Amino acid sequence: MLFLKKEEKTVKPKIYVTLPISIEVENYLSEYCELSKWTGEDRIPREILLQELEEVDGLLTSGIRIDEELLKRASKLKVVSNVSVGYNNFDVEAMKEYNVIGTNTPYVLDETVADLTFALILASARRITELDQLVKTGNWNPIKDDQEIFGLDVHSSTIGIIGMGRIGEAVARRAKFGFNMDVLYYNRNRKPEAEEKYEAKYCDLDSLLEKSDFVVLLTPLTPETEHLIGEREFKLMKNTAFFINVSRGKTVDEKAMIRALKEKEIYGAGLDVFQKEPVEKDNPLLKMQNVVTVPHIGSATTKTRDAMMMRAAQNIVAVLTGKGTVDSVY
Ligand code: DGY
Repeated sequence: MLFLKKEEKTVKPKIYVTLPISIEVENYLSEYCELSKWTGEDRIPREILLQELEEVDGLLTSGIRIDEELLKRASKLKVVSNVSVGYNNFDVEAMKEYNVIGTNTPYVLDETVADLTFALILASARRITELDQLVKTGNWNPIKDDQEIFGLDVHSSTIGIIGMGRIGEAVARRAKFGFNMDVLYYNRNRKPEAEEKYEAKYCDLDSLLEKSDFVVLLTPLTPETEHLIGEREFKLMKNTAFFINVSRGKTVDEKAMIRALKEKEIYGAGLDVFQKEPVEKDNPLLKMQNVVTVPHIGSATTKTRDAMMMRAAQNIVAVLTGKGTVDSVY
């Protein structure tokens, strides 16, 4: 007699995705998980997210606050996979308490964020956005040789990198070998390899601020780095210095920065991040000619975002299936 083996039905873990994903990522996730996703154009409203999370094992997202309120409601949640290297949106202590693993996407974005850092350095020092507007509004002739619109040199100047992690090193390499800059850095720990490779000099924060032509902030946002740069720090910078922030808006006291720019304590700023995102329409920074702004797009090239998405997908699958390595943040 022939016994037909009953088809074994494995129950796939459920996940929720709050961001648009490519077909490749969706196919990969669907192999291992039952997937639901937010398809609205705006960010998912908090209450809808909380409802959606009631039955899921994993959440793939970016920047959404993972706190006690959410963890309480999401009683089956085992993992939150962040599509970013920064994870200041995680309340790590609460996540540990609720046994929820948090993951991020390191390594794949370092060079891309370093490129954007240099784009901001160059755009601020050579006044690219201002000049672009003048040319496009038919002002080539009156401005072409006008000293008023001349910029400052990037090459052979001094860069001060605050936060010499992987991205900091990628910035230091560009600075040293691409632009012949002197590299200063401030970091929790000394980086002997970076010192050797890029002739980077370790400084205390005040000396770095006093000596740098470009002060580049790349540190993660933690309780220790919140408002690391404030009124006192801006006063220490050169009047010709540019301040470049590619970390998080809250590492800087934004009011103090606005004042420093208005009072010409510093020459200009290049900003990828803001205290409040999306930046508020009436933020004075948006009216300043000497400030170049972009909307938190440090990692936003197609190739890098695809790589980040896939890495975040692999992280969530690895946690839920117990196979593969995981970029756990704690
Ligand atoms: C991140 O991934 O945390 C960075 O902000 C990239 O832009």
